[in-house]
Amino acid sequence: MTLVNAETMHNLTIIAVSTDSHDLLDRAQRVAPTEANLLISGETGTGKDLLARWIHEHSARKDGPYVKIDCGSLPESLLEAELFGYERGAFTGAGTSKPGRFEAAQGGTLVLDEVAGLTLPAQAKLLRVIEERRFTRLGGRQSVTIDARLISLSNVNLFDSVAHKTFRADLFHRLNVIPLEITPLRERPNDIPALVDYFLDNICRRHGKERCELSPDTLSCLRGYDLPGNARELFHILERAVLISREKQLLPNTLPPHLTSSTALMQRKDQKPTLAQLEAVYIREILTLTHGQKSRAAEILGISRKNLYEKMRTYGLPYNRKNQPEDGK
Ligand SMILES: Nc1ncnc2c1ncn2[C@@H]1O[C@H](COP(=O)(O)OP(=O)(O)O)[C@@H](O)[C@H]1O
Ligand SMILES: [Mg+2]
Repeated sequence: MTLVNAETMHNLTIIAVSTDSHDLLDRAQRVAPTEANLLISGETGTGKDLLARWIHEHSARKDGPYVKIDCGSLPESLLEAELFGYERGAFTGAGTSKPGRFEAAQGGTLVLDEVAGLTLPAQAKLLRVIEERRFTRLGGRQSVTIDARLISLSNVNLFDSVAHKTFRADLFHRLNVIPLEITPLRERPNDIPALVDYFLDNICRRHGKERCELSPDTLSCLRGYDLPGNARELFHILERAVLISREKQLLPNTLPPHLTSSTALMQRKDQKPTLAQLEAVYIREILTLTHGQKSRAAEILGISRKNLYEKMRTYGLPYNRKNQPEDGK
């Protein structure tokens, strides 16, 4: 299922092929129109931002603002001013008055990114504001009723943070009225080919390149890789591959070396490499090491030069080029 929200200016396609992603989107679709506060958790790059925006666009608040604040990167001294705004003279340096993010998000959605990054004092202030549903600008007198739906994002497990007492349980329950958890990409490999397609389309168009595609070997390398950075990392891997490839078909050597090295191949969990695959990769690594010097490579590999040439022919490793074989697998 590919959901496309074409009427907005933002690109809000969410690729969902795996059962996990379908279930997640089902749930998101049901909760989007409600006013419930949501907590979206998932590793970095799994699409938390994208889902938050999608929910906003599918809520009754879609014509209102979508405002995000990164709670993890702001020093505590600035956080309150950022969240609630301030009046002129509220503190040294407050030359003018400024509305905060809560005010900017009135009528819309306020996204608290990296919510686990809030310090305990900041959590206490936030909890009070949420409970009272009112806030006041720093140095201000007039209190404003909150009219923003809260979506919190976290790449750490907030349950653990609560257990370790670095996150207040009462605030956690306020924010986590409905939890949405995004599965790491490596645990929903069925999404990978569709994401690859979608990203390649986007990347090739953006760089004015003819539409590229992955060779079967390249896709299998990607499937065997853990993708700790999830969809974001996948996007960057593909962008790099498109930019360095001379061919329309992206071969394994356009992937970062840590995906295609003999070590990476052997550490794969799903599909172990064949001896021939391993041999091909290893020969390529040694040729790279010797800057293409075949006699030196043959010596390291413990085979004759003639034997090396034969293997290079078998595995399609190029003869020329001083340094790197260019299209080995
Ligand atoms: N299911 C998906 N379909 C399409 N694009 C996705 C999907 N998941 C993630 N992305 C893209 O991957 C990138 C990282 O997603 P993002 O929402 O910023 O992740 P997070 O906030 O969890 O770190 C973004 O460009 C996003 O659009
Ligand atoms: Mg993010």
